[in-house]
Amino acid sequence: MLSFSIVPYCSIDFIHCNLSKVDVYAIQVDNETFAKVIDGKRVAKDIREEIAVEISKMKEEVGIVPGLAVILVGDRKDSATYVRNKKKACDSVGINSFEVRLAEDSTEEEVLNHISKFNDDPSVHGILVQLPLPSHMNEQNVLNAVCIEKDVDGFHPLNIGRLAMRGREPLFVPCTPKGCIELLHRYDIPIKGKRAVVIGRSNIVGMPAALLLQREDATVSIVHSRTKNPEEITRQADIIIAAVGQPNMVRGSWVKPGAVLIDVGINPVEDPESARGYRLVGDICYEEASKVASAITPVPGGVGPMTIAMLLSNTLLSAKRIHNLR
Ligand code: GUN
Repeated sequence: MLSFSIVPYCSIDFIHCNLSKVDVYAIQVDNETFAKVIDGKRVAKDIREEIAVEISKMKEEVGIVPGLAVILVGDRKDSATYVRNKKKACDSVGINSFEVRLAEDSTEEEVLNHISKFNDDPSVHGILVQLPLPSHMNEQNVLNAVCIEKDVDGFHPLNIGRLAMRGREPLFVPCTPKGCIELLHRYDIPIKGKRAVVIGRSNIVGMPAALLLQREDATVSIVHSRTKNPEEITRQADIIIAAVGQPNMVRGSWVKPGAVLIDVGINPVEDPESARGYRLVGDICYEEASKVASAITPVPGGVGPMTIAMLLSNTLLSAKRIHNLR
């Protein structure tokens, strides 16, 4: 029979930092310790419920309904799925959604025209252009065209620039990194003074995640494709955010005992035993790393649901700011 208990996880580093009382608990099964699972699906549901309550009050008290416009260009299946899920999530909390679908061979000018209309539309509080765009379009031109007050993706260079600067505040923070930090907060995982390593330096996740961790007073390193001996750097981390899109890249041996692991990767790998012929895995080898870490996000059900929850949160924030509501 399995013996099952919950034990407080104290890595050496926590003891050195006088932080023996942390809110992260590992699970012990038959003398093997497993990391606590950070349940993004549950947290995202809680957040959606909180947002739905606020929106319903807003509608009732001031008659304002937040609106999100989504522009999808081309026919990438993954992008179409993301957009469908975003619309469903908007419906579930009472956000009005507006959708424009353009053919793969549309012109950049067409996209810019739609953005311009949404910029001027008072019923739209957030504008999102699903990335990646077809290769004939200039992503910079398109993202620059979204007015920063409606930039719920937080991808406008002015919002990213403010995120990078001390003493400046972005109007919006990109959704996936914001979701990672929200998970750490909701699980009471301390960030201040901790060593954090971000794996990946994309504009959408890695770079803003590193900036956010730094704003939270972590000491941050970024590991990328040209980093020599990445495992030596990750082994020093109290917190790892992995966002590279490489299935199972971070092995158990890359992880310091007691570290907290946030896995942004969602990678399909072949699996003949699954009805679909594939299954989704993260950038972190869950099976190995969960025996070393103190807490870990699963894939699926970790960061994924948080991205959409943060998009809803940014859209509500935008509506409140535009209409001067608290
Ligand atoms: N493509 C992948 N992730 C994202 C995201 O967070 N926002 C947008 N607009 N496109 C994406």
